[in-house]
Amino acid sequence: MTTSHAVVATPETIALAAAHLRAGDLVAFPTETVYGLGANALDAAAVEKIFIAKRRPRSSPLIVHIADAQDARKVVRLWPNAAELLARHFWPGPLTMVLPKSNAIPAIVSGDLDTVGVRLPEHPVARALIRAAGVPLAAPSANEFMQLSPTAASHVARSLAGRVAMILDGGNSDAGIESTVVSISAEGHVELLRPGAVRREQIERVLGTAVADAHWDKQGSAPSPGMHERHYAPHTPLRLVSRQSPLPDGAGALISLGTARPNLPNDLTEIVLPAYPEAYARGLYAALHSVDHPDHAWIALEPPPQQPAWEAVNDRLRRAASP
Ligand code: TXA
Ligand code: MG
Repeated sequence: MTTSHAVVATPETIALAAAHLRAGDLVAFPTETVYGLGANALDAAAVEKIFIAKRRPRSSPLIVHIADAQDARKVVRLWPNAAELLARHFWPGPLTMVLPKSNAIPAIVSGDLDTVGVRLPEHPVARALIRAAGVPLAAPSANEFMQLSPTAASHVARSLAGRVAMILDGGNSDAGIESTVVSISAEGHVELLRPGAVRREQIERVLGTAVADAHWDKQGSAPSPGMHERHYAPHTPLRLVSRQSPLPDGAGALISLGTARPNLPNDLTEIVLPAYPEAYARGLYAALHSVDHPDHAWIALEPPPQQPAWEAVNDRLRRAASP
């Protein structure tokens, strides 16, 4: 049984969703970053359904979501001091830690890697759902592979209609951009795999050391197999166009930074996003979803400055932009 529309999250619908998860079915649910597509992380057959629903390659590892910090120890086999420190500061919240995985986690969850990403989300619906299910939830973003992440239940319904047992609506995602992913070695060395809602500099302040990007191993395989160059992309070609540069010809839409662009043609759709990184991230995917329309030949976006506070936003824009 599958659904194509969202239901508002209430204690009753959360209980029903938890029953679907325990039965091995998929449930899309809100988190403070983006919506997730969840399955029981301890059930390999349930997790397999995620890859089918998203058309995602098996080599792309999933994040395991827990509702209580002490449950991390059931998912991972090592808990270095750095993990404890970061969990205390950033959990519940948008930080994912990749650590050596425990045997409880089936190989399919982590793309056969010996590690697993673990995150304790802050969204009350996410936590209530995980607690009600009584198991950790493997959950990627609830969109088709490589496409825009959903920050509203309506985005999920459009992208995964008929492929999930239930879609829980918990309002718009507050951060609007995915979690920051770090890897932590057995020795407690921390590297950045994906910039996200927690800024690199916040992590560095807590650890008291610099946090570098994860290096590539000798075989040349990516440190984070899910990090594809083209990712998070709308169907409509996205071009990064500074305010001084002309817009492309034909019908399209413009996403401006901070203020409206003067002298635009009347029929052009313009969305102005705030010139502050957090507020911008909150609105970015919703703006892209709203102008990602077959009538548009292009989406032009005025890029934010290349500054540390904008690192995560600029990472997503680079991956979303057409070559
Ligand atoms: O905010 C988020 O993280 C959202 C919500 C739903 O929690 N989830 C999310 O999942 O963005 P997904 O599957 O779209 O992205 C997971 C990222 C990928 O870049 C993947 O490569 C990385 O986390 N990742 C997960 N497990 C990993 C592992 N064991 N080793 C390296 N990278 C891992
Ligand atoms: Mg994703």
